[in-house]
Amino acid sequence: MTRILHTSDLHFGRPAVAEQLDSLKGSIKELAPDAVAVSGDLTQRCSVSEFLQARAYLDEIRETAPVIVIPGNHDVRWIGAVARNLGIWGRTAHEFKYSRYTKYISPELNPSLEASGDPGAVIAGCNTAHGISRGSLTRRFRDLGVIGHVNKRDLLKVEEAFSQAPPDAARIVMIHHNPIRGETTGRHGLSNTRQALTAFVDLGAELVLCGHDHQVAIHTIEESTPGLVVSTAGTISNRLRAGRPSSFNLVEIDDRELRIITHAWQNPTGFAPSQQRSFPRHAASRSA
Ligand SMILES: [Fe+2]
Ligand SMILES: [Fe+2]
Repeated sequence: MTRILHTSDLHFGRPAVAEQLDSLKGSIKELAPDAVAVSGDLTQRCSVSEFLQARAYLDEIRETAPVIVIPGNHDVRWIGAVARNLGIWGRTAHEFKYSRYTKYISPELNPSLEASGDPGAVIAGCNTAHGISRGSLTRRFRDLGVIGHVNKRDLLKVEEAFSQAPPDAARIVMIHHNPIRGETTGRHGLSNTRQALTAFVDLGAELVLCGHDHQVAIHTIEESTPGLVVSTAGTISNRLRAGRPSSFNLVEIDDRELRIITHAWQNPTGFAPSQQRSFPRHAASRSA
């Protein structure tokens, strides 16, 4: 079996809850997964001190398991990037936008990781946090700089990661923005859901990991992308939806099945399994 612990939206800074972060670290040690996947929004205000805290935390987790991480919309300096697009400062908008993330977390915005175990898995990170850019323009003012999209250049990185992975490894894409409308927020995180999910399936993906909505949700979309599981992790912070507890997901993959076990915060005992969903591995049989 291959086991991946998926967590999201840690939001270092004001929303961070120290006892939950400590408990998550304890759960990672206890569960000893083959990989830890962190789907963005490490910070709240994209500040240097928040990035330093996030980096120290990720480094501690790395002592237990390999970690893959991508940026979220909170980790991008999109307002300053707009000014640079207008030619007000020297550095390019792209460079400026990700400057803190690339300095403190990782220079790679589309990393990939091969998780061990049997059958093994490849997780391809696909950056969807582009700030204000052509693909994420919206008339909804409150979504400006918040909504995400998948672009062709980043898809090529997913294709590259999948093409280099062993044939039996489960193909997983990790993005920040939720492609499925949030139950409480009523909002899609991603502007081009249908194209993105279809492209992921065409590349052989059987699971999409994401966050952003701060509410755990696990979906399949039989009419457009049969066999694809979309798993949105909850947050580990106090930015909760509708009184739902903080949570993370443990993904277990064997030859026949993909299971997602949500672990929810149960004060004061820490995180404990709260629900489980199982899916047959259609994608595996399709590519076999
Ligand atoms: Fe978030
Ligand atoms: Fe977000």
